[in-house]
Amino acid sequence: MLQKFNDLNKDLIVNINGKLVHRDQAGVSPFDSVVQGGDAVWEGLRLYKGRIFRLYMHLDRLADSARALAFAEIPTHEHIVSEIRKTLEANQMTDSVHLRLTLTRGVKYTSGMDPRLNTKGPTLIILAEHKAPVYDKTGIKLITSTFRRPTGEVLDPRIHHNNLLNSILAKIQANAAGADDALMLDSRGFIAETNATHVFFVRGKEIMTPFTHACPEGITRGAVLDLCAQHRIPYEIRDISIAEAYRADEMFCTGTMGEIAPVLELDGRKIGTGNSGPVTLDLCDLFKRMVEREGDKVL
Ligand SMILES: Cc1ncc(COP(=O)(O)O)c(C=O)c1O
Repeated sequence: MLQKFNDLNKDLIVNINGKLVHRDQAGVSPFDSVVQGGDAVWEGLRLYKGRIFRLYMHLDRLADSARALAFAEIPTHEHIVSEIRKTLEANQMTDSVHLRLTLTRGVKYTSGMDPRLNTKGPTLIILAEHKAPVYDKTGIKLITSTFRRPTGEVLDPRIHHNNLLNSILAKIQANAAGADDALMLDSRGFIAETNATHVFFVRGKEIMTPFTHACPEGITRGAVLDLCAQHRIPYEIRDISIAEAYRADEMFCTGTMGEIAPVLELDGRKIGTGNSGPVTLDLCDLFKRMVEREGDKVL
């Protein structure tokens, strides 16, 4: 899965700490904490017809992550929403947009990792792009990475931080293997998630997904679990081994960037029949209706 350049994005206006700048002129200081140490938190959001799906859950996760990293200042939800609106209006965007919010610890007065060098307040970057869900809805292919997802004793996945190298190493393996993404295990060898999405499995009538010990508390994952509860589809959250993945009837992944995408192949093995299964297709349909109904109005 290689995203293509979308011509609609060639003159994007980006918001950096309230300043609207053309994408070619936009930049952050070499003293910014995100450049110095990946010292930042982020969220990916999706805009559907003027509404952002579960916007306030994303803003809570951003603020909670910044609080866990002891940022001295965290912008209010109201401030961020008004900057999002300003950015979308500057780009005349209303639908099929992905937004990436990055909140860094801010600019340091000299290079170094110490947060006491940060005296200027945080940097808020809002990047909105025309972007349809990135995965092929007819299905994707995964390999299992040799890189493991860390749990709380190394770096707590409840902090949605910008240190993405663990994911990027797994993605490089997927690329080399000609796969769309890589499945990642936790330190005990149970399935955590992929390099960018959460995973679900269907066996018989039951849906399973791993705990969030080694993956973020995903917002799309939560939405799928809400749909299961609303529609009385039984599910279980538990440790899942790789052998259980191979014998699943269906597998799918979830995330804001790609919504819900069926997984048809894992490590050269067909999952189920090798086609999108009925439970996955039903959930895709229910999710589509949910995002149309439940988004927070921003425009
Ligand atoms: C590592 C990782 N896994 C999964 C996801 C998908 O989570 P969500 O559904 O909240 O977009 C993300 C999204 O930011 C992520 O960073």
